[in-house]
Amino acid sequence: MNIKEEIDKLTEELKVYQDKYYKEGVSLISDTEYDRLTDRLIELEKEHPELQHPDSPTRRVGSDLTNDFPEVRHTIPVLSLDKAYSDEAVLDFFSKSIQKEGGALSFAAEEKIDGISMVLYYEKGILVRAVTRGNGEVGNDVTPNIVTMRSVPLSLPESIDIAVRGEVYLEKADFERLNAAEPDEAKRAANPRNLAAGTVRRQKSSEAGRVPLTIFCYEGFWGNRSETPSDHLHILSKLKKLGFRINPHLAFFDSDKAKAKAKLDAAELDGEAYGFSEIDEFIKKKTAERKSLPYEIDGLVFKINELDVREKFGYTEHHPRWAIAYKFEAPQAEAKLLGITVQVGRTGRITPVAEITPTKLGGSTIRRATLHNQEYIEELELAIGDTVSVSKRGDVIPAVESVIEKNDAGNTTFVLPDECPCCHTHIVQIGGLQYCPNYDCPDQVKGRISFFASTDQMDIETLGPKTVELLYNAGILRSVEDIYTADYSSAADLSGIGEKSVKLLEKGIKESLERPFATVLSSLGVADIGKKSAELLVKNGFDSIDKILDAAAKGDAEAFSSIPGFGEVTGRRIVEAFSSERLRATIGSLRKAGLHMDTSSDKKDDEEYEKIFSGEVWCITGSFKNFNPRTKALKEIEKRGGRTVSSVTSKTTHLLAGEGGGSKRAEAERLGVKIVNEDEFMTLLGVEKKKEESDDGQLLLF
Ligand code: IVH
Repeated sequence: MNIKEEIDKLTEELKVYQDKYYKEGVSLISDTEYDRLTDRLIELEKEHPELQHPDSPTRRVGSDLTNDFPEVRHTIPVLSLDKAYSDEAVLDFFSKSIQKEGGALSFAAEEKIDGISMVLYYEKGILVRAVTRGNGEVGNDVTPNIVTMRSVPLSLPESIDIAVRGEVYLEKADFERLNAAEPDEAKRAANPRNLAAGTVRRQKSSEAGRVPLTIFCYEGFWGNRSETPSDHLHILSKLKKLGFRINPHLAFFDSDKAKAKAKLDAAELDGEAYGFSEIDEFIKKKTAERKSLPYEIDGLVFKINELDVREKFGYTEHHPRWAIAYKFEAPQAEAKLLGITVQVGRTGRITPVAEITPTKLGGSTIRRATLHNQEYIEELELAIGDTVSVSKRGDVIPAVESVIEKNDAGNTTFVLPDECPCCHTHIVQIGGLQYCPNYDCPDQVKGRISFFASTDQMDIETLGPKTVELLYNAGILRSVEDIYTADYSSAADLSGIGEKSVKLLEKGIKESLERPFATVLSSLGVADIGKKSAELLVKNGFDSIDKILDAAAKGDAEAFSSIPGFGEVTGRRIVEAFSSERLRATIGSLRKAGLHMDTSSDKKDDEEYEKIFSGEVWCITGSFKNFNPRTKALKEIEKRGGRTVSSVTSKTTHLLAGEGGGSKRAEAERLGVKIVNEDEFMTLLGVEKKKEESDDGQLLLF
């Protein structure tokens, strides 16, 4: 037998022994014999490294050589997840995703393992690199340590290129045992994750090999798109078949349980099936189970199942838009209550806001936290000077959770003033909430104007709350309808506005005349008519304001309450709102100004633009002068029939490259993808380059 043959034979034999032992717990030979064969193979491989198999079982043993962990660039986006702290926020993610897709979706729910994020890269079925997450673009190559993990396949049964994401972790019991065995107390790790992180970066892989790290894999990115399964369940199922370790505690959500079960079955996966309405129950169950799991989890991950939708939704700079992490613990911090201010919203609702000492919470510094209403303050028995705990739950605005220590100045529970802090009208109580009843209260008026002009509504770009405040105070803008009739010529003299901004404002106002009827309807600020309900109204026959006004004039609440999703109370309130003289007058003025008051003049999206990008697949990188945020450029592509994706692959036809694009540009060059710069793109769009500067120095076009 020549050397090559001996190496081949030993490799095969040892692989069989290892597999039997680690997968089935069966020893086919004695330990001494096993060690002898391993030593022999190590010796031969040392002499003839060129003959070593890439998946040689000796790689599991590790070495005493010092590792360095070179930085390598990821070829897939390795982002983290957006977070939710309540079951409502998860449900909101479900419903917003479904609404955005405009069709049925299903969601996988996995445990969020508290470990170390790892990407395993395989080329032609052989593990070539294991890379830490790093900053998402560049991570450390920690292959020598990762190959010591039995749960990481060194080779796959198929000769494929694939990147697999997973979480490397240490079971709680192993952590306890290893930590207890560490004589030097200072060297003991605080938790399993820290010990796992230390192990992944151990300088000697022989030492890393002694720590029983393991991995759960949860995402796969196939090099060849056509091999990619069409949904997450089939990805998991395929990963399992390829020999990866998949967390068996999988749950799956669909509009009803039976549908969810059918999809799990179709992918040949065991898992718990749920209907959307059971989220609350599911989260409670997992929260209770958490302590008894053999490993640590810090939350649950909810992911859209359908891959084509994932691709459509894409990524923000930091996280995919198709997944969300529910965290068991909302970040909490301690702060001192410096004072309580009272805000008046556009509906007149009075909200007390806690002014607190600047406090770091969940990655940002907060100075204010909501207190909801008077009842909430009373429940907390909250007084100025108290030390409080603040949290970031589902809300973007943090909330005061509890009083940790009472103030020593003898301050008593705070009581909201009985007058509106803005217009001094006597505050009224409606259902436990406080309201300023004065429709002309300046704060309410400014709130209504700002709401009307906001991005989600009429999207009048330069008319933000600060500009509204300036224009209101100058007497230029005193109502929503004023937006279209005001004389802005004197606005340029106001400090903080300027000529250029006025031009942009006028342009923004003009453009807003083209917003579809449903947007106009929701922008009126009627309590029960948000974006979704406005669309529902339109879909259910109320495709003009006159139809709504007529039904309201007849007192026909049933016409509204019979719409699926609208209740009796909503029906009555819509009638009441549209019977109001004030709202009718506003509508009259807006109609005169030329806003869409029915759907007949709404532009149909697909008629609007020539489909110059049809059949093309565009990716975007870098930053842009004319598109900020850059997703605006993606919209322009989509409107013209192009498809947009979040990473450059062999299917990508164009890369729109702004300033500072890095890895995507390199990948595009490698794959021969056409690279288009911003100027060329503007020419393609046929948009005249008109670079006006707004007051914040940002160049705006659309
Ligand atoms: S999915 C694009 N699934 O949590 C895919 N992540 O805060 C994004 N994690 O960096 C990740 N368990 O390290 C996913 N079942 C799971 C996970 C999981 C743990 C980690 C992962 C990620 C972090 C996000």
